[in-house]
Parts: sequence; C-alpha cells; structure tokens
Amino acid sequence: MRSGLSLGAAFLAASLLVGAAASRSDAGEPSTLAPPQSFAGIADPEARSAAYFTELGKVLTHPRCTNCHPAGDRPRQGDEARPHQPPVFRGADGKGLPALRCASCHRGANFDPAGLPGHPIWHLAPAEMAWEGKTVPQICAQIKDPARNGGRSPGDLIAHIGDDTLVGWAWAPGRGRSPALGTQKAARALVEAWVESGAACP
Ligand code: HEC
Ligand code: HEC
Repeated sequence: MRSGLSLGAAFLAASLLVGAAASRSDAGEPSTLAPPQSFAGIADPEARSAAYFTELGKVLTHPRCTNCHPAGDRPRQGDEARPHQPPVFRGADGKGLPALRCASCHRGANFDPAGLPGHPIWHLAPAEMAWEGKTVPQICAQIKDPARNGGRSPGDLIAHIGDDTLVGWAWAPGRGRSPALGTQKAARALVEAWVESGAACP
C-alpha cells in the first residue's frame, strides 16, 4: 500500500513536470523583447516608430497587464484571463466595493504559498484605460489620448511603463504566473524609442 502510494505520488509529480514543460513550449512565443536597435533597418521614421509600438504591444496585450486593464468591472486571473474568483468589482476607486476591498486579500507583496499576487496599491486600472480585447493599434490610439490615459503626455509614459512598481509587478508576478515578455527595462527602452521617434501608431 505504502509503495503504491509513493508510486502514485511519483507519477503525479512526473506528469506535473511534463505538463509544465509542455505548456511552456506550447506557447511557442519568444520570451524576450526585441531591442530598439533591431529596428534600425526600417528607413521610414514613421514606420520605424510604429514598429517600436508593435513590439511593445507584446507586453501591453499580455495577461499580466490586461487582467488589471479589463473591459468590464471585474479583474481577470491567470494566463487564461478567467473572471476573478471570488467575484470582485472595481468600485468607485478601483480598489473594490466597500464590502470586499482588494486589500483584504492582496497584501503589500506576492504571497506565493497561496498563489496570491500583491503590491501596496493593488487596484484596477480605470474603465477608460481598458485594454482587454483591444488590438495593438487601438491600444496605441488610446494610450496617446490624454482623456483615456490619465492625462499623460507620451513622454510621461516612459516613466510610467519604465519605472512604476505596480506595472513592474508584471515582470515578477510570483508563483504560477508567466511574467510579461522581456524586462521592464527593455519595455522602457521601446517606449523611449517610440516617443523620441514621434510616437506613431501601427
Ligand atoms: C477574497 C480575496 C480576494 C479579493 C477581495 C480580491 N482578490 Fe484578486 N485574487 C485573489 C486570489 C486568491 C488570486 C490568485 C488566484 C489565481 O490567480 O488563480 C487573485 C488574483 C488576482 C489577479 C490576477 C493576476 C494575474 O495576472 O494572474 C488580479 C488582476 C486581481 N486578483 C485583481 C484584484 C482586484 C483589482 C481586486 C479588488 C477589486 C481583487 N483582486 C480582490 C483573491 C482576491
Ligand atoms: C495590479 C493592477 C495593474 C497591473 C498588473 C497593471 N496595471 Fe497598468 N494601471 C493600473 C492602474 C490602477 C492604473 C491607473 C494609474 C494612474 O492613472 O495613475 C494603470 C495605468 C496604466 C497606464 C497609464 C494609462 C494608460 O492606459 O495609458 C499604463 C501605460 C499602464 N498602466 C501600463 C501597464 C502595463 C504595461 C502593465 C503590464 C506590464 C500594467 N499596466 C499592469 C493597474 C495595473
């Protein structure tokens, strides 16, 4: 009985490992971001600027970002972007309804034993900043629009994407979640190149 059990456990562990390896290679996508220099061959400045944004779009459309920039009033969870369980809603300040605030579960840092992400100001992006279900050109138009980006100039986006620690969580999301592509520094370099080249949209 004892050996049967441990055999079962070994089998389970082995299949979990196989499953994890398969899901990683199944994705078939590069896990890095191309640096700005790799677009130097595009002669037309506007096309080159748009190419920077297309590359950055691989981050913006990643579930680590879109789960917090959802189309509706509920955050989403995991790489499958399933609706948040238990049901929680953005509320007036993005930090949840009075009865169930984000911070009652999400603490100041990730809590890996429970697979719970965390950050001191964990909350949802406002509805006008929703990216879920949008194409990269649509997100580009929106992210440049001060009425839908929190009154930011394109230059402000360099620091927000490049240095903000809540955005930075996406590259250190804790156990059970795939990080956003590349690094925050690599994303910063792309935003910077995009802004300096006139912030054209694809
Ligand atoms: C009752 C506890 C609880 C409350 C309240 C709560 N969450 Fe969560 N949240 C969780 C748990 C547990 C997970 C991890 C589960 C998982 O990803 O499978 C999670 C995961 C998430 C994720 C997924 C991150 C990712 O990319 O996978 C987001 C986004 C999120 N919560 C946002 C919020 C926001 C915003 C609020 C407030 C409006 C909130 N949560 C309130 C328990 C809670
Ligand atoms: C935990 C939730 C959360 C996650 C994860 C998150 N954001 Fe946000 N994001 C917000 C909130 C809240 C705001 C509004 C903050 C403000 O305006 O000051 C915001 C605003 C923004 C803005 C400025 C407004 C706009 O839409 O143009 C940008 C840019 C942005 N986020 C980028 C990102 C990127 C890139 C990622 C992933 C790498 C990301 N965010 C992940 C919550 C999140």
